[in-house]
Amino acid sequence: MSDSKQRKIAFIGSESYPFVKTGGLGDVMYALPRALTRKGASVRVILPYYNCIPEKYKRHMRFLGSFMMDLCQDGHTYFVGIMETELDGVTYNFVENREFFDWGNPYTGLWEDIPKYCYFSKAALAVLNYLEWIPDVIHCHDWQAALVPVYLRTRFEPTPVGQAKSVLTIHNLRFQGVCSIDHLKYWSGLPDYLFDYPVFKVNDNEANMFKGGLAYADRITTVSATYAEEIQTGFYGEGLDSHLRYHSPKLRGIVNGIDVDIWNSATDALLPSPYDIGSVIERKKENKLALQASLGLDEDENRFVIGLVSRLTDQKGLDLVNAIFQRIIDEKTQFALLGTGDPRYEGAFRYYESVNKGRVCSYIQYNEGLAHQIYAGCDALLVPSLFEPCGLTQLIAMRYGTVPIVRETGGLKDTVKPYDAEANDGNGFTFDNYEASLLLNAINSAKALYFDNRGRWDEMVRRDMEKDVSWEKSAEEYQALYDDLAEQE
Ligand code: ADP
Ligand code: GLC
Repeated sequence: MSDSKQRKIAFIGSESYPFVKTGGLGDVMYALPRALTRKGASVRVILPYYNCIPEKYKRHMRFLGSFMMDLCQDGHTYFVGIMETELDGVTYNFVENREFFDWGNPYTGLWEDIPKYCYFSKAALAVLNYLEWIPDVIHCHDWQAALVPVYLRTRFEPTPVGQAKSVLTIHNLRFQGVCSIDHLKYWSGLPDYLFDYPVFKVNDNEANMFKGGLAYADRITTVSATYAEEIQTGFYGEGLDSHLRYHSPKLRGIVNGIDVDIWNSATDALLPSPYDIGSVIERKKENKLALQASLGLDEDENRFVIGLVSRLTDQKGLDLVNAIFQRIIDEKTQFALLGTGDPRYEGAFRYYESVNKGRVCSYIQYNEGLAHQIYAGCDALLVPSLFEPCGLTQLIAMRYGTVPIVRETGGLKDTVKPYDAEANDGNGFTFDNYEASLLLNAINSAKALYFDNRGRWDEMVRRDMEKDVSWEKSAEEYQALYDDLAEQE
């Protein structure tokens, strides 16, 4: 038995900060390998070499070699180029093929994305064999890498990488990679018998990549204990609840952390006025004034500023926000939104800004720097999600002394302890059922504490900054999982 600290782990997924990030998956693909590396593991992250990766990273990549790989049912072969770079002790290998990865940011649409991620999943395993770097465990992420466990136990079983075990992590069950059986059969080139049994099949015509990956993975994890329970129910199961109940013995939740070096208010170069727990109350005012100035909000350190940093989709509870928006805003309350996504939400927030000049700013963009300034300059951060596998924005908010207002679902429930006035304890304001009136109550309770009992509010701010939101504990849980798997025959 080898020492657990020496484990070799390959991460396979479709995005990773700082190369390409559209949401929390990108954060986790960066921070977890880094945390595991610090604990002595040897981690390699395999990603597509997207055209949209910034030049400043591409410049530092080395070309390691290339080969041709058969992919489709008709034996069509494709080029696989391998690029490599290191960052913070982690090795990154990029799979290069211009036919698949020259378009998108990085995603395009399912019709193109399905061939793209069939190719990527198979190529990632072929790259490990080519490099003769055989991991103990292959840790795959979301539907884009869901074919990896299936290829591993079929086409790659007799090859060196076939000895590795697999973990498939569900970051978001909403996206599953569903298409016609013929489309997946053709592009994956997987054996016909897999399509006769209910491995991928959802009905007579459709196949589901995530479903097949979940069946074939040695272990399934998701990003909070509550979401692990929720996805086994009809409401949250996105049609896969019975499949997940069937596979529940190998399913568990491990809550995400955040990278506490990137998210460190004391050293954050993007903040006008960095601060620590000793200076947060004074310095937050300076960050608030700077934020108000840059967003065109009335400059007043005594306003209660609510932030929202999010993909704009129905997942994020924006229908609740829409239902009560005009009742949140008043002469003492401002709102700063940063997000992009569904045009109907973008339009709604643009409208709110137009009718609440000086009180509302809707910044419809993806902007890392502004995200940092919002986490630092706001008093509260709203995360009223319909469902939330983990959620990172509430963790970042707490680390920056910004009080989260969240719905009790998924990782939000597991990471934000509700404020308890009697015990003077808790990290934020929460509500349970998906109802706009309950969200409004939670916001009003937050405002009441902020305006009527600032001493108590400030204590919560400091309590939030003290809370451990790092990867420390969860990385250990993954290590124990890898050890357990690697020791199995
Ligand atoms: P999800 O993965 O569902 O989008 P998470 O809360 O897990 O939600 O992660 C969201 C991540 O993306 C956080 O790091 C957040 O700061 C970032 N983010 C979301 N929208 C934007 C935006 N418009 N600009 C900058 N960062 C954003
Ligand atoms: C997904 C989820 C989010 C989670 C993130 C990282 O995008 O929507 O809740 O935090 O993945 O695991």
